[in-house]
Amino acid sequence: MLKLLDSHLHNNGSKDRLRHLIMYIARAAKYINHELQMGDMGAAGSQNQFGEEQLALDVLADKIIMQNLDVCRLVCNIISEEQDAEVKCDCKRNKEVYSVAYDPLDGSSLVETNLSIGSIFAIYEGEGFIGRTGREMVAAVNVVYGPRTTLLYTMGKGTHEFTLNDVGEFTLTQENLQLKDVARNFAPGNLRAANINDKYRKLLNYWMDEEYTLRYSGGMAADINHILKKGQGIFTYPPNPPKYPDGKLRLLFECNPFSFLVEQAGGSSSNGEIDILDMKVEDWHQRTPIYIGSKKAVEKVIEMMK
Ligand code: AHG
Ligand code: MN
Ligand code: MN
Repeated sequence: MLKLLDSHLHNNGSKDRLRHLIMYIARAAKYINHELQMGDMGAAGSQNQFGEEQLALDVLADKIIMQNLDVCRLVCNIISEEQDAEVKCDCKRNKEVYSVAYDPLDGSSLVETNLSIGSIFAIYEGEGFIGRTGREMVAAVNVVYGPRTTLLYTMGKGTHEFTLNDVGEFTLTQENLQLKDVARNFAPGNLRAANINDKYRKLLNYWMDEEYTLRYSGGMAADINHILKKGQGIFTYPPNPPKYPDGKLRLLFECNPFSFLVEQAGGSSSNGEIDILDMKVEDWHQRTPIYIGSKKAVEKVIEMMK
């Protein structure tokens, strides 16, 4: 018997409005998936506010998600990696409302190479993001567009995986993903940081001496998905000042939703000092160093990077 995303959300105790919202997100993912199969992969000729070149697909994925979040009338505040500022929507304010932060296409520079990329979503109850922490998220979703299109979600009751089938339904493929405490795979981002940070170099050497297996694609959505599916691993993205004094990855769009998905699978994540989920959001595009994955491996990173 097929287990559909909609009924899984329902059986998992989701409020109807949150379930509808997640189904709109899943719907956006299907359209993005279609564009990835059929669409133009070229440059959009524009840049985001950080001077990063936008692909036609970045812009298109952003538009598809924005439209779906708008028409569902459940979301008041939206912030996207591809937008400078928060977007306010016409929502039914008298009822329970949500705020959604998302990265429409993570790893989009990999698109032409045909490696996996993803869309990442963080869902909060109420209006706005500033001054809040990741602990206030009520759900997080990661969609991976690879040989298959898969969707991971958590609502704080485990992390579950669904796969898009031929007739456009997300069906359950794995319930309650579990991370072991010990990692055997490593996904070390930002190796440039080893040039200015000897502790990072030592950590890299430690993993190599211990014969960890390298599993790094250059796209966080696929790399964290890899850890979750293999049931162990460690992903790192340390800072490298002056270019990235807080690393490159964004708290609202990338680090928070992945931290929620990984914690719900028994792993952890840290910025080197505190849990990512305890960080206060001060800016929509705030960045943070991140060390995420199997618990003991994260502890080891914190100890060695201190
Ligand atoms: P995006 O495509 O949304 O800009 O994100 C890319 C991110 C992330 O997926 C990945 O881990 C990181 O950039 C890799 O960056 P560098 O290769 O520049 O270190
Ligand atoms: Mn990204
Ligand atoms: Mn992106």
